[in-house]
Amino acid sequence: MKKLLAVLTSLLLVCGIAAAEDAVSSATLKIDRLPVADAADGVHVLVVYFSPDDTVKAAAYTIASAAKADLFEIVPEELYTEDDLNYMNSKSRSMAEQRDKNARPAISALPEDMDAYDTVFLCYPVWGGEAPRIICTFLESADLSGKTVIPFATSNSSGIGSSDTKLKSMTDDTVVWVKGKGVKKGASAEDIVAWVQELATE
Ligand SMILES: Cc1cc2nc3c(=O)[nH]c(=O)nc-3n(C[C@H](O)[C@H](O)[C@H](O)COP(=O)(O)O)c2cc1C
Repeated sequence: MKKLLAVLTSLLLVCGIAAAEDAVSSATLKIDRLPVADAADGVHVLVVYFSPDDTVKAAAYTIASAAKADLFEIVPEELYTEDDLNYMNSKSRSMAEQRDKNARPAISALPEDMDAYDTVFLCYPVWGGEAPRIICTFLESADLSGKTVIPFATSNSSGIGSSDTKLKSMTDDTVVWVKGKGVKKGASAEDIVAWVQELATE
């Protein structure tokens, strides 16, 4: 962990807070800031995100920029439609999945080389106070043993709650979980960069 923090500190000095003025919304997504992890850094960071409506995606890009990480999007085999995401309808796909603790929506692909990464930011929207079940699919499919996992969630109002600790209970003791960070929709990129900076200086 200390090695990660030291590397993040140096990376932040290089990256500064270039993304700070960008709000967390797809409208301000800056594709040209997509970073490439540098093998010479010694610690390799992957930002994994699930974002059917692009809020988490924008935040994930900000995190990746600040941490000079690679990005991987969890894409469901069956994409979520607007109706699927209607949480006002208790019968919608997303609500039905969240009611079923055993639901494991299929993922179209996994990262090609998890072995290449020491640290994984795990980014998701809060659904019914928890992580979407597809995050459980990811945890059960990708081998995270020996890695550090840093959860990050966006929500309308409820915050990350206990969603991160519930995810933690799904992995074995070799996985080191850092306390998760939750932001509300519309949070500034500056806040997110500051959080990554805190991780680097803790
Ligand atoms: C099925 C579903 C359930 C949700 N449940 C919550 C919730 O419990 N608390 C909350 O504050 N927001 C909730 N939201 C809102 C999302 O967390 C929020 O809009 C999130 O930022 C969306 O991220 P995305 O744009 O990357 O999909 C829910 C959204 C959906 C689709």
